Amino acid sequence: MAFELPKLNYAYDALEPTIDARTMEIHHTKHHQAYVDNLNNAIAGTELEGKSLEEIQKTGSDKPAVRNNGGGHYNHSLFWELLTPGGSKEPVGNVKSEIEKIGGFEKFKEDFSNAAKTRFGSGWAWLVKNADGSLIVSSTPNQDNPLMPVADVKGTPILGLDVWEHAYYLNYQNRRPDYVSAFFDVINWDKVEELYNK
Ligand SMILES: [Fe+2]
Repeated sequence: MAFELPKLNYAYDALEPTIDARTMEIHHTKHHQAYVDNLNNAIAGTELEGKSLEEIQKTGSDKPAVRNNGGGHYNHSLFWELLTPGGSKEPVGNVKSEIEKIGGFEKFKEDFSNAAKTRFGSGWAWLVKNADGSLIVSSTPNQDNPLMPVADVKGTPILGLDVWEHAYYLNYQNRRPDYVSAFFDVINWDKVEELYNK
């Protein structure tokens, strides 16, 4: 069964003004669709066909087409679920407690924003759950993610921010910092908590 583009739980204009409808539509139907199609092509007839998307990340394939498009499909599928109209403002439950342990919510926002703003070129900022349940902020280049053996910080991603220009350029142009700070208005912290508890 080939991978498919997941449906969004909200309309393309639901995240305005943080993320505009046109950016959402192009990002989902063009960029994400391309990762899905290219991943399916890259794994067709190989030992990766039939593996779960998560398994494919963990295999650490050194084929660029698998790494880039497998990462692209995984990262974007996660990203859409982490967004919600209006956001839920603050972390809850276990994530809230763990964020307290790494300096509190304001410190987290600063660290996560710095990770997003200082990632040179294209990539992602992450909040990662370590094996012992603690949290750490990191970033990866391109479509890499913390599940991949190549990642500097390895663990389970529970929050991610796409800082590729395709994610914000139509609305924010070169103002990545403005996009990063606006992102905090649309985070679905209930979903982050659900991913932490999985
Ligand atoms: Fe993207």
